[in-house]
Amino acid sequence: MLDASDEGYVTEDGRRIGGVLMEMKNITLRFGGVKAITDISFDIREGEIRAIIGPNGAGKSSMLNVISGFYVPQEGEVWYKGAKRPPMKPYQVAQLGIARTFQNIALFEGMTVLDNVMTGRLNYMKTNMFQQALWKGKAEAEEVENREFVEKIIDFLEIQSIRKTPVARLPYGLKKRVELARALAAEPSLLLLDEPMAGMNVEEKEDMSRFILDVNDEFGTTIALIEHDMGVVMDLSDRVVVMDYGKKIGDGTPDDIRSNQAVIDAYLGVAHD
Ligand SMILES: Nc1ncnc2c1ncn2[C@@H]1O[C@H](COP(=O)(O)OP(=O)(O)OP(=O)(O)O)[C@@H](O)[C@H]1O
Ligand SMILES: [Mg+2]
Repeated sequence: MLDASDEGYVTEDGRRIGGVLMEMKNITLRFGGVKAITDISFDIREGEIRAIIGPNGAGKSSMLNVISGFYVPQEGEVWYKGAKRPPMKPYQVAQLGIARTFQNIALFEGMTVLDNVMTGRLNYMKTNMFQQALWKGKAEAEEVENREFVEKIIDFLEIQSIRKTPVARLPYGLKKRVELARALAAEPSLLLLDEPMAGMNVEEKEDMSRFILDVNDEFGTTIALIEHDMGVVMDLSDRVVVMDYGKKIGDGTPDDIRSNQAVIDAYLGVAHD
């Protein structure tokens, strides 16, 4: 068990985790007669790597979609940075500093890697299209600044060699990395990753794990991720929420989760992808 005070806690590997960044309170989400999420509460702390796990259809992506504003829950409250968040559109949530990747990659396939990553900076582009078309000084300065930041992210994720390649030509593992780059281009305080390693081979998973740890370490980004590979989850995360049939059946450190009988019965003890 963790001895977490309001100010946070120190992890086994000596990282300092801060206060509560996001709190989900009694969230219930229905699609017609289907209850995707039933009365779930949990928090995400500053600087933490928080995993959400559970069997297929458990409601994990739905939960991420509530956090990112794609779905508005019928019941419950979402608190962010100490304030209750009113129902918001995804672009408004993005403006709060929350970025995400998707379970099914959502990139502009015909565009280059560089242009895809640039779309992650749209929230930082204040000049309008008309001004940009006229190439006024302000628009130019802004473009240069955004471009520099994007190049930094591209270097960080080691995708310089494919910057000018159309995304459609990339193998799956690299597309996942480009999607991460686009999310990072938004300079998020909270990064949401929906199955960042799904469909990857061992080597690609190791690379992605290293990048996730580096993002957390070097940018101080708080990360919430959904993942089915238990080795990866237990290695990366500070705390884990376990969902099953829309309910929360476990919440704690990887050690807590490994020894939680309900979690073993529902998920860890059975074969899954
Ligand atoms: N837009 C939607 N409309 C109707 N039902 C939905 C919708 N999105 C999700 N659901 C239902 O909600 C439940 C939870 O789905 P969700 O995608 O959140 O599960 P998951 O835990 O992410 O599963 P997986 O591991 O397969 O990705 C499922 O029964 C699903 O069919
Ligand atoms: Mg899912």
